[in-house]
Amino acid sequence: MKDDVLERLAELRARALAGGGEERIAAQHAKGKLTARERVELLLDPGSFEEIAGLMVHRAHRFGLERKRIPGDGVVAGTGRIDGRPVAVFSQDFTVFGGSLAEAHAARICKVMDLALKTGIPVVGLNDSGGARIQEGVVSLAGYSDIFLRNTLASGVVPQISAILGPCAGGAVYSPALTDFVFMVEGSSYMHITGPDVVKAVTHEEVTSEELGGARVHEEISGVSHFTCPDDASCLAGIRRLLSFLPQNNAEDPPRKETSDPPDRLVAELDQVVPDEANRPYDMRRVVEPVLDDHDFLEVQAGFARNILCGFGRLGGRPVGVIANQPAVLAGVLDIDASVKAARLIRFCDAFNIPVVTFEDVPGFMPGTAQEHGGIIRHGAKLLYAYCEATVPKLTVITRKAYGGAYCVLSSKHIRGDYNVAWPSAQIAVMGAEGAARIIFRREIAAAADPAAEEAARIAEYEREFANPFVAAERGYIDDIIRPAETRARLIRALDLFADKRDANPPRKHGSIPL
Ligand code: HXC
Repeated sequence: MKDDVLERLAELRARALAGGGEERIAAQHAKGKLTARERVELLLDPGSFEEIAGLMVHRAHRFGLERKRIPGDGVVAGTGRIDGRPVAVFSQDFTVFGGSLAEAHAARICKVMDLALKTGIPVVGLNDSGGARIQEGVVSLAGYSDIFLRNTLASGVVPQISAILGPCAGGAVYSPALTDFVFMVEGSSYMHITGPDVVKAVTHEEVTSEELGGARVHEEISGVSHFTCPDDASCLAGIRRLLSFLPQNNAEDPPRKETSDPPDRLVAELDQVVPDEANRPYDMRRVVEPVLDDHDFLEVQAGFARNILCGFGRLGGRPVGVIANQPAVLAGVLDIDASVKAARLIRFCDAFNIPVVTFEDVPGFMPGTAQEHGGIIRHGAKLLYAYCEATVPKLTVITRKAYGGAYCVLSSKHIRGDYNVAWPSAQIAVMGAEGAARIIFRREIAAAADPAAEEAARIAEYEREFANPFVAAERGYIDDIIRPAETRARLIRALDLFADKRDANPPRKHGSIPL
């Protein structure tokens, strides 16, 4: 054994572990943030981390960089395990050159991404960086480009998860943006293309980084992030929980989890959940949660487009993606944001063999100039496209309204829905009874001695005829009308039946989704 080599190795490892030194680590802690290595330890199963190319150093030797050589170049990268399953991980170290990205730093991230693609394991990126390392110039930009390419090539092959745990600005935002799920921590993270100074110079707006791109902004307004967490530790726990629903790659089925929740459990309270009046709101969470195993629903983008619920749960131990109109917000209408939010989750589920369960109570697409001018046609088409192209098992429960185009879009039989059932409260029609009666009986209502009484009678007539599930059932557009309490049992049976479903789309390079 070459003792001098081992001694040097030990010294380099110690320097790598020391990161940017005690002072910078204390500053990091003072901001309520963990260090890059602490984050990796918390994310992974204890003792499972294996670092890759941890001795790499930067190659630029000017503007002060020649005086500092820190093994690892400001990023901790390697592999480890989460719940026993392997993952690739990188964690930017803000205490070393501000976590800035340069040639060696980027090369290490690329190494773990290449490894993940080759071995079919998820990639988790923990971002905390001042952006492109200014001293390295265009070499840093090349490094970002190398990562963007890998994010894109890995998309739909292995799950990619990003956490923003500090600054993330400029073009650097596009790596997280290309990944499947973005976590942000309240108060300590932000993402924006240009910072407050540039904003002020260009638009004369005075705004802070937090106001421009803090966690709440991206959760509630932009829809860039999927999960908001109060601190680093809960964020890392959240990533572990999310991964428990996902397969390792697109060639695997998602992991089944043993459950003591009986598959035939009746959910009696569902028989009362839908109000008698068609326009009275109710909270769709009261439907979704008790149907799922152990009432366990992981909501995705909970603060964005709250008129649709998206998330993950399990039925009989099998992970499913859930899409559910939310009548408690904007009557559950489909607008631009809701369409894009749901389309994205459906495409993710389809890429990773996760069945999609839809709970439908939708009055239609949102009317108005704001939506039309904003492109509801283009964005609504994304949702339609996502449902049409998805070949995973698609199960749908119509709880109340399935009106107009929204009926077609939301996983109807006509677009390859596999199992579509309705509750007795379902109304499957071109539009609500009131609107419909006013149009088709306009003359009769106007000519009547008592127009109000005539209108009420005509609405009741239309309701009897069309505002029910029977017309659709007679045509075979739904498979059955079920008692709400049986919903869980029926969905689990259908999921068992369709578990080995095989379906495909025509061969092509890729479709042209209306982006
Ligand atoms: C080199 C950097 C750096 C960078 C920070 N540091 N950002 N070094 N390149 N981009 C260094 C600092 O010099 C400092 O070193 C240490 O990291 C900590 O930084 P502080 O400024 O002390 O920290 P803080 O006050 O918390 O401020 C954090 C910050 C600020 C807001 C991120 O550092 C900052 O504005 N950095 C520059 C951001 C930027 O403009 N990046 C380029 C964006 S363009 P010492 O030795 O003093 O501890 C971009 C394009 C990407 O990223 C394009 C991809 C296609």
